[in-house]
Amino acid sequence: MVGKVYIVGAGPGKVDLLTLRALEVIKKADVILYDELIGEVTELLKETKAELISVGKRRGAHKFEQEEINRMMVELARSGKIVVRLKGGDPFVFGRGGEEAEFLAKEGVNFEYIPGISSAIAVPGNAGIPITYRGYDPAVVFITGQESRERLNWGALAKLNATIVVLMGLSNIDGICRNLVENGKDPETPVAVIEKGFSREERVVVGTLRDIVDKVKKQSITAPAIIVIGKVVELREILQKYQSR
Ligand SMILES: C[S@@+](CC[C@H](N)C(=O)[O-])C[C@H]1O[C@@H](n2cnc3c(N)ncnc32)[C@H](O)[C@@H]1O
Repeated sequence: MVGKVYIVGAGPGKVDLLTLRALEVIKKADVILYDELIGEVTELLKETKAELISVGKRRGAHKFEQEEINRMMVELARSGKIVVRLKGGDPFVFGRGGEEAEFLAKEGVNFEYIPGISSAIAVPGNAGIPITYRGYDPAVVFITGQESRERLNWGALAKLNATIVVLMGLSNIDGICRNLVENGKDPETPVAVIEKGFSREERVVVGTLRDIVDKVKKQSITAPAIIVIGKVVELREILQKYQSR
């Protein structure tokens, strides 16, 4: 008997923001391999019949190597188990879901991708920042803050009229802002940093490319956090007054 792996997005951390399909497979899973960034969804997992394995990886303190996770998925599926690989947000947005799907495919293991609401869109939106707005920038760019300077074309990014959404960027926020300004982006461009979106601890710091680094340091903002760079940040001031959350 051959099992199957479901690569599932847990959304931004609220149980009622899971998809119906995600909930369905979570309920029928034999084993759930889950990451850290799944907020209150972790509580829901405890109510299932599945064996729960936390494979969350912290920067600098890896609990499980990627290779180990890949192997576990394959072995569990081959032993006939229904395996859910649960990841924060959407598995294919900076979540290594693509790499895991590729591994499964190369090993001949069936899998299904179940999308989740990505924090890249939902965390800014929930903080009163729609990532697009007609009349403002006509594009959105998602970047990782963990990429080497060489592979990100800062010159192009600075010139593009786009909202820039940075994931995993807090520890490099200084370099990110500096690279953009050095490449010609207006230092007065609005920036927001949203810490722990959708949680009770959510905090939002708003500034510009010129002063956001100081503001973030003063407020001791910690990860996970999303950085939004662009005029859309200004909308927060009006939206947050009436936006219920
Ligand atoms: C490894 S990436 C995974 C992204 C995920 N696949 C998604 O679609 O949301 C982790 C990064 O997502 C962002 N992130 C995820 N959840 C967040 C939250 N609740 N609040 C703020 N940032 C969050 C942070 O930038 C964090 O460093």
